[in-house]
Amino acid sequence: MAISRLHSPDSRGFASDNYAGVHPEVLEAIALANGGHQTSYGEDVYTEHLQEVFREHFGERAEAFPVFNGTGANVVALQAMTDRWQAVICAESAHIHVDECGAPEKVAGLKLLTVPTPDGKLTPELIDRQAYGFDDEHRAQPAVVAITQTTELGTCYTPDEIRAIADHAHGLGMKLYVDGARLANAAATLGVPLREFTTDAGVDVLSFGGTKNGLMLGECIVVLNPEAVHTVKYLRKAGMQLASKMRFISVQFAALLGTDLWLRNARHANDMAQRLYREVAGVEGLEIARPVEANQVFAVLPKHVTERLQKRFRFYTWNEHTGEVRWMTCFDTTEADIDAFAAAIAEELAAG
Ligand SMILES: Cc1ncc(COP(=O)(O)O)c(C=O)c1O
Repeated sequence: MAISRLHSPDSRGFASDNYAGVHPEVLEAIALANGGHQTSYGEDVYTEHLQEVFREHFGERAEAFPVFNGTGANVVALQAMTDRWQAVICAESAHIHVDECGAPEKVAGLKLLTVPTPDGKLTPELIDRQAYGFDDEHRAQPAVVAITQTTELGTCYTPDEIRAIADHAHGLGMKLYVDGARLANAAATLGVPLREFTTDAGVDVLSFGGTKNGLMLGECIVVLNPEAVHTVKYLRKAGMQLASKMRFISVQFAALLGTDLWLRNARHANDMAQRLYREVAGVEGLEIARPVEANQVFAVLPKHVTERLQKRFRFYTWNEHTGEVRWMTCFDTTEADIDAFAAAIAEELAAG
């Protein structure tokens, strides 16, 4: 039976940046890497070339380990940075705490020590609420601070804020990990090279997100400080994140980071969020809930309005209790998508 298209390629919503498809330049790169045989499990020419690409962005000591997904990147990286008795300090809103089904605890076997934050961002002072009990065998030993850039609440750390966290963590004998599912969006917001708020700010290990930035699938664990990990090699395999046909993940990253595609995509997604913000900010009955610093807009709407809108456009309610919703833009969101959505929001609010 021949396959046929089961969806409309024009349907776009605001639920998540992983609802988007694959950027055409990435699809072309996959086709380019196709054909012939290549050694499996990362011993291929595309994965070798990828190391150069990552070193260009993150410095000479950087080593990239492609994996399938962001949860896997977080779990393998954090496991590589900790011992069995250790703990990771993170924001209460961190993806590793809220959205990974407990995988860091279950699979990596570590303890998460969470801190409430007003905006998804940790600070040295907030870290101190959990950074205690060193040498006390009754307490899981804080070993890593994990932050997300950009955060789950759409905010963006400045390079100075990350440097202050890194200095503080290192001063306490801890390491700094960055969940970079949206690291490209942060670079677009900050207008600085990737290394300025990672390698040069003292980050030890990070994940670099590809899926939300135009790849079919794939993320990379990037070790910036080799002394911060025991090993990634064995843990990636034991953690079921070692792709046998790795060339097809690696070539996607080469298409993204070997050109300016990563930044073009991220800038576009961020610009679309700003457009949405500008179009809806003044609309009566709606409150913008958080600063718009990347590709997410958070707003509070009456629940019945949200329900009607969700019949027309896909998006998630972020907080059932407060009625806060999250609208996400992607590399393929168009100005017309934003204008149609903003008009629908105004229309549904006006209808009461
Ligand atoms: C901040 C953050 N980290 C990690 C992930 C995990 O990605 P995946 O769904 O590929 O496991 C996501 C996905 O939404 C995310 O938003």
